Amino acid sequence: MRTFLVLLLLGVFASWVICKPTQEKKGRVQHSKDLSDHKHDDSKDFQYDHEAFLGKEEAKTFDQLTPEESQERLGKIVDKIDSNNDSYVTAPELLAWINLVHKRFVSEDVDKQVLMSDKNHDGSVSWEEYSDQMYSHLIGEDQFYDVPDKERYRKMMKRDERRFKQADKDGDLIATRDEFTAFLHPEEFDYMKDMVVTETIEDMDRNGDGSVDVNEYIADMYTPETDEPEPEWVKTERQQFKEHRDLNKDGKLDRSEISHWIHPHDYDHSELEAKHLIYESDKDKDDKLTKKEILDNWNMFVGSQATNYGEDLTRRHDEF
Ligand SMILES: *[C@@H]1O[C@H](CO)[C@@H](O)[C@H](O)[C@H]1NC(C)=O
Repeated sequence: MRTFLVLLLLGVFASWVICKPTQEKKGRVQHSKDLSDHKHDDSKDFQYDHEAFLGKEEAKTFDQLTPEESQERLGKIVDKIDSNNDSYVTAPELLAWINLVHKRFVSEDVDKQVLMSDKNHDGSVSWEEYSDQMYSHLIGEDQFYDVPDKERYRKMMKRDERRFKQADKDGDLIATRDEFTAFLHPEEFDYMKDMVVTETIEDMDRNGDGSVDVNEYIADMYTPETDEPEPEWVKTERQQFKEHRDLNKDGKLDRSEISHWIHPHDYDHSELEAKHLIYESDKDKDDKLTKKEILDNWNMFVGSQATNYGEDLTRRHDEF
């Protein structure tokens, strides 16, 4: 009986791992709640888990701490997560925490962007303020230096303007804080879903026929090296495309198939992550975690100097 249960659980978990891994692969599905910029591949590292659990900024802070400091702070976080103070962290408590962290990240990001753009300090951001702040130095007439690739920036600005207008419900070209949030984080808002689909297709559709075929789908995540045989995971992706993405089996993804893929209804990233963190740390298999169970598996929840990711430093550099 026991073995059967274990097998059953393994089966349930494995089917999740097998059906869904590609969803984390690159950007696209993360649109619907962007918990992390990293691929969720725990065989390589726990960066996805760290960002989901701490938020993107806070995860970087932890990467600078000693292992002892990280664990100490993690202990304090555990006390906060355990909202009913019964000494157990349950899936709903962990889910509430992940959602809170995510909300905080979005809100802090919006704060930063408002601060940069809102020149007249009225708490709203007009398209004029935003485009001026973002683009005038790149494509304006009065710059001192020549920016290469002006055409590309003009296109980006057009696309931003279209998204801004969609986010701006009353059409006055002034975004309230909520509207500005919808502009910056469209994946969080139902009324922006169509725009996210449109932009996704534009990004992927290399031959300009308005849909995404299997080669465009693969090219979005994989650039072949010369002479390299196609890796297994790319073959798996091709299979995914056929079996799970191309619902009407006509060889390409139209708007509704793209939408189905990037906005899955049966799939809540935060909820899955909460279950995943519990499953991986729950030594006594009672479906909830003690502080000890969490600290015993602390590397999965938070980073430290010992797990510092060199790649992050370069990434941060590149962003500027
Ligand atoms: C749990 O403990 C914290 C900190 O001591 C307290 O603020 C909070 O109200 C407690 N919550 C419950 C449900 O007792």
